[in-house]
Amino acid sequence: METSRSQSRSRSALRAAASSLVAFVALSAFLAGCGAKPETSTPAPSTPVADTPAPADPTPVAAADPAADAKQQFATKCATCHGPDGHGNGPASAALNPKPRNFHDKSQMAGLTDADLVHSITMGKGAMPKWGGVLTESQITALVAHIRELGKTP
Ligand code: HEC
Repeated sequence: METSRSQSRSRSALRAAASSLVAFVALSAFLAGCGAKPETSTPAPSTPVADTPAPADPTPVAAADPAADAKQQFATKCATCHGPDGHGNGPASAALNPKPRNFHDKSQMAGLTDADLVHSITMGKGAMPKWGGVLTESQITALVAHIRELGKTP
């Protein structure tokens, strides 16, 4: 329960607050009259955001041309060890034992099915890291086709 003295004190505080509120409203009305209306520009940015299509596929080549993507993936991710043409003689191969597979070695490659190659690439083998999670299943399938293609030449 409040005493009458505290009531009168709170009433005068209320009056002071009210007068400063009046001053504030007058000031805002004045500012608004000057054309300071930042809120009118707010809806504008949301329009282009809503219209923006989903981010581009990070590997658009993969969808458009799997063979071209495989060639590019091989050059950037595999050639270090397997060599640009898949002879197993990339710059990093010197330090490796067993050596990276030479895809032109028909006797070795004939003993491996496409499924074997997909498995090794996906899970990794020996010094080779696993590529599952880095490359998609379809990218790995396209890489196996690329490797088979490389193996047709000596
Ligand atoms: C760090 C070096 C390195 C990189 C990079 C690398 N490989 Fe290998 N790869 C190897 C080595 C070493 C072997 C042989 C492993 C063994 O026989 O123990 C191998 C083996 C293979 C084999 C034969 C698998 C089998 O079952 O015998 C395939 C296929 C292959 N790599 C594909 C790839 C592809 C495709 C890439 C790129 C996405 C790649 N490698 C990147 C080192 C590498």
